[in-house]
Amino acid sequence: MELARMILMRIQVTGIATLLVLVALILGQKGAEARKGRILESFEYIAMSCRAHSASITDFGGIGDGKTSNTKAFQDAVNHLSQYANGGGAQLYVPAGQWLTGSFSLTSHFTLYLHKDAVLLASQDMSEWPVLKALPSYGRGRDAAGGRFASLIFGTNLTDVVVTGANGTIDGQGAFWWQNFHKGKLKYTRPYLIEFMYSDNIQISNLTLLNSPSWNVHPVYSSNILVQGITIIAPITSPNTDGINPDSCTNVRIEDSYIVSGDDCIAVKSGWDEYGISFGMPTKQLVIRRLTCISPYSAAIALGSEMSGGIEDVRAEDITAIHTESGVRIKTARGRGGFVKDIYVKGMTLHTMKWVFWMTGNYKAHADNHYDPKALPVIQGINYRDIMADNVSMAARLEGIEGDPFTQICISNVTIGMAAKAKKVPWTCTDVEGISSGVSPRPCDQLPDQGPEKITACDFPAEPLSIDRVVLKSCTYRMKYT
Ligand SMILES: *[C@@H]1O[C@H](CO)[C@@H](O)[C@H](O)[C@H]1NC(C)=O
Ligand SMILES: *[C@@H]1O[C@H](CO)[C@@H](O)[C@H](O)[C@H]1NC(C)=O
Ligand SMILES: *[C@@H]1O[C@H](CO)[C@@H](O)[C@H](O)[C@H]1NC(C)=O
Ligand SMILES: *[C@@H]1O[C@H](CO)[C@@H](O)[C@H](O)[C@H]1NC(C)=O
Ligand SMILES: *[C@@H]1O[C@H](CO)[C@@H](O)[C@H](O)[C@H]1NC(C)=O
Repeated sequence: MELARMILMRIQVTGIATLLVLVALILGQKGAEARKGRILESFEYIAMSCRAHSASITDFGGIGDGKTSNTKAFQDAVNHLSQYANGGGAQLYVPAGQWLTGSFSLTSHFTLYLHKDAVLLASQDMSEWPVLKALPSYGRGRDAAGGRFASLIFGTNLTDVVVTGANGTIDGQGAFWWQNFHKGKLKYTRPYLIEFMYSDNIQISNLTLLNSPSWNVHPVYSSNILVQGITIIAPITSPNTDGINPDSCTNVRIEDSYIVSGDDCIAVKSGWDEYGISFGMPTKQLVIRRLTCISPYSAAIALGSEMSGGIEDVRAEDITAIHTESGVRIKTARGRGGFVKDIYVKGMTLHTMKWVFWMTGNYKAHADNHYDPKALPVIQGINYRDIMADNVSMAARLEGIEGDPFTQICISNVTIGMAAKAKKVPWTCTDVEGISSGVSPRPCDQLPDQGPEKITACDFPAEPLSIDRVVLKSCTYRMKYT
C-alpha cells in the first residue's frame, strides 16, 4: 500500500520515467528474493573494447585458497571462451582470493579482469611453466643460452586483448627465481609477468604487479599497446626486475604508472647485436607520460642496451624520479648497429640522482662473440628540456663512441641542484655533439650555449600519435552465481 501510494506520488511529481525506474527496482528486489542464494556480480570498467560473454574462473574449477594450482582452470577458461572470439568476445573475472597459477595463454577479443582483492600468485613449480624458444631478435635467453620460460600471462599472435582490474594484484613471488638466478641454477631464462608477442591492440591497466621473477611487462613484435595505471613494486636490489619494456613495438602509450624496482623503470628495446640487426624491427612511436620511478641502481627511462633494430620517435613527458641512478640513459656499444633517434623528453622532476643524463657507448654485454664490431649504432636527435633536479651527484656523463659520435643532442631549460657531496666536475662529455641553452650548471664545451633566447630550442612534437587517439569505453560485467 505504502509503495503504491509512493509510486503515485512520484508519477505526479516527476513523471513516467521515474515510475519505470521504481518498477524495475521493485521487480529486481523480488527477483533477487526468489533466487535466494544467488549473488549478482556487476561492475563497470574502462577498456578499449567491451565483451558480450562473461565467465568467472570459479566456473572452471578455480579455487582461490593460495594453495591449489589454477593453471588448468585458467587455461580451460581461456580455451572455452575463445569460441566467442568472433561473437562479441569474452571476459574472464577473477574474484577476491589467492589464485596460485603457472603460466597460461590468452586468446583474441578477450578481457582478463582482476577484482581489487584478487591476487594471482605465480607458481614456484617449474613444470607449470612451458619453455619457449629464445626470441629471434635476441638469439639467446638473457639468463641462459637455451630457451625461456613463458611469462605468467602470455599471448602470441593475438588481437584485441585487455588485462585489467580494480587494481588487483599479480604477485610473481620472485625471491625463488632471484635466488636460483644468483646461484646460477637456472636452465632457462626467468619468466616475465606479462608478455605479448606478435600482437595488436593490447591494453594492460589498473593492476599492481609485485616481485616479478624478471621483467614485469614485455610487449614484443607488437603494435597499438596501452599501458595505464600500473603499480610495479620489487625490491630495489632484485635482479633484472625492469618495469615496462616495449621491445620492437610500434605505437605504445605508457602512462599514469608508479614503479619501484631493481632495474630500469622503462627500458625501450629492439633486439641484440647481429640477431637484432637481422630481425630489423624497431621500437617507434612511443609515448611515456606521468611516470613516477624509484630505482636507485638504474634509470627512470633507458634506451637499450639492446637497440639493434632501432629506437625512433620516443616522447616522454611529466616524469618524476626519486632516488634513481639516472633520469634518461642511452646504452649501446660497437656491434649493436641500429639507431636511437628522435628522442624527446620534456618535463622531468628529479630528486636525489647520481646522473641526470647518461649516455654509454661501450655497454659491454653481447649475445655471443659473433657480433660485428663494425656495426656501429647511430645516436642522433636527442632532445631534453624543462628539467628540474636536486641533490644530484653529477649532472651528466655523456660517452659516445670514438669515430661514431652521438650527434644533434639538444639540452635546454634544465636546472640541476648539486648534492653537498657532488663530483667536482658536473659534466663529462666525449664523442658527443650538440647544443644547450639555459642549462645550469654550465654544460661541457661539446654542447655550446646558444644564449638565453634559445631556452625552448629543443624539439617536442606537437601532433599526437595514433595511440593517443584510442577511445576508451565504459564496459559492464554482469554475472549471476549460485
Ligand atoms: C605468429 O606470427 C609470426 C609473425 O607473423 C609468425 O612467424 C608465427 O609463425 C606465428 N605463430 C603462430 C603460433 O601462429
Ligand atoms: C594500487 O595498489 C597499490 C598497492 O597496494 C597502491 O600502492 C596503489 O596506490 C593502488 N593504486 C590505486 C590507483 O589505487
Ligand atoms: C584506472 O586507472 C586510471 C588511471 O590510469 C584511473 O583514471 C581510473 O579511474 C582507474 N579505473 C579503475 C576502474 O580503477
Ligand atoms: C622551464 O622548465 C620549467 C619546468 O622545469 C617550466 O615550468 C618552464 O615553463 C620552462 N620554461 C620555458 C621557457 O619553457
Ligand atoms: C641527497 O642524496 C644522498 C645520497 O646521495 C642522500 O643520502 C640524502 O638523504 C639526500 N638528501 C636529500 C635532502 O634528499
